[in-house]
Amino acid sequence: MPRKPEKVAARPFRYNTDGQLLCDAVPLEKLAARYGTPLYCYSASQVRERLALFRKHFARQEHLVCYAVKANSNLSLLRMIAREGAGFDIVSGGELERVRRADKRAVARTVFSGVGKTVEEMDLALRAGILLFNVESEQELDLLAERAAKLRKKARVALRVNPDVFAETHPYISTGLREHKFGIDISRAREVYASAAKSKWLSPEGVSVHIGSQIRNAAPFGAALARVRTLVEELAEDGIRIRSVDAGGGLGIDYAAPLGAEEFDAAKEVSEYAAALTDGLCGLRVRLLLEPGRFLVAQAGALVARVLYRKRNGTKEFLITDAGMNDLIRPALYGAHHEIVAVERLAESEMHNMDVVGPVCETGDFFARDRQMPDVQPGALIALLDAGAYAMSIASNYNSRGRAAEVLVEGKRVKLARRRETIEDQLRGEE
Ligand code: LLP
Repeated sequence: MPRKPEKVAARPFRYNTDGQLLCDAVPLEKLAARYGTPLYCYSASQVRERLALFRKHFARQEHLVCYAVKANSNLSLLRMIAREGAGFDIVSGGELERVRRADKRAVARTVFSGVGKTVEEMDLALRAGILLFNVESEQELDLLAERAAKLRKKARVALRVNPDVFAETHPYISTGLREHKFGIDISRAREVYASAAKSKWLSPEGVSVHIGSQIRNAAPFGAALARVRTLVEELAEDGIRIRSVDAGGGLGIDYAAPLGAEEFDAAKEVSEYAAALTDGLCGLRVRLLLEPGRFLVAQAGALVARVLYRKRNGTKEFLITDAGMNDLIRPALYGAHHEIVAVERLAESEMHNMDVVGPVCETGDFFARDRQMPDVQPGALIALLDAGAYAMSIASNYNSRGRAAEVLVEGKRVKLARRRETIEDQLRGEE
C-alpha cells in the first residue's frame, strides 16, 4: 500500500497535558517569565521544516530558495536559514548588511529587488558580488550600468516584469497588475532586454516576477510564469539566453484556522505551488528562483503579551495588553486577522465578546474586534499567532515604546535572538 504522506503541522504551538501552551517543547509562560513581554517567540524547527518542504517538492526542478528578508530580518533567524543552504531576497542596503553578517557566503546567493535602489545601495551590492539585481525600471537599468562601469564590475540582471496577472489578496499587497508601481510592463520587456544586452557592464541573465503576497490559490502563479516562459522564448530568438526565472514570493497561509483544529496542510500547499510553477515553466531549462517570506516564517512565530486590564465601555468589553500596534501593525494596517489564545488553557465554556487592544494612543491600536475570547484575567498571558512574518520587521517605536525581545526556540533549546530595546537604545543618535 502506498504510504500516506505525513501531514505537516500548521503551527509549532500546542497545549501540553497541563494546559500550558508550548513553542516546540518550551512553555511560553517560562519564556515570558525569563525575557518579559511583549515577546516574539519563533520556532526554528518549523522554519527548517518549511525549507525541507521546498527542497522536497521542487526536487525535480533546479532551484534556489531566496528567503525574503523583509518578512523577518532577525540575524539569528537569517543565520539559521543561510546554514540550510538558502539564499536571500533583499530590498535595501540594510538587508544586504544583515545577510553579510548572518553568513558571508550567502551574499553570492542573494538577489536584490525593489523599485527605488539608490546609488549607494547599488555600489554596495556590486562590490559585495550578489547573485542578481532584479531591475524594476529603465532608468534603474541605466543607472546600474553606469555604476557597474564605474566600479568595473559586471552586473548580473533580471528584469522584474509586470505580467498583468490578477491575484486575489489584500489590495495593499497585490503587485502584479499594470496599475501597480512594480516591474516593467511585460509588453515592453523585449526592447529593454535588447538595450541591456548592448551594455558591456550588464549581463541580462534572468526574468523575474512577483504578483503579490498572501495568495491562497496557486493558479495565478502558474499564469504569471506562463507569460514569463513566452518572454524567455522570445528573448532566445533575439539571442538573449535567460538562465534563471525568479517567481517571487507570495504563497499564503491560513490565518483564520483555530489552533489545534488546523486543516492547513503545509505540505499540500507547497506541492500545489510547485506543480503550478513547473507547469507554467513547461519544461523550460532554467534555474528557478523562489522568494518566499511569509510561508517560511509566519506560522513559526507568536507574539506573547500580558493582559494589563479588562474594562467595559458601554456595551463593549476591552482587553488591554502590553503589546500594541507598534509591535504588530497588521490588524491596524490591513484589517488582518490573527488568532489569539490564552497561554494557560481556559475553559471554552466561558467565552466573552471582547476587543483586544494595545496601550497606544490610537483607536486603530487593536488586535481583534468583537472576538470571542476565553476568560483571561489581568496578569494572564495571551499569544497572538502567526506573528513570525511582517510583525517584528515592521515594528516601530511609536509612543516611544521600545521594541520587543525575540527568542528562537528549537526543541528544548532557547536562544535570545534580540534583547528588548531600552530607552537608551531609542535615544542614541538624538541630541
Ligand atoms: N519578493 C518580493 C519582490 C516581494 O515584494 C515580497 C513581499 C516577497 C518576495 C515575499 O512575499 P511573501 O512570500 O512573504 O508573500 N506587510 C504585508 C506583506 C508585504 C509583502 C511585500 N512583499 C503583510 O503583512 O501582509
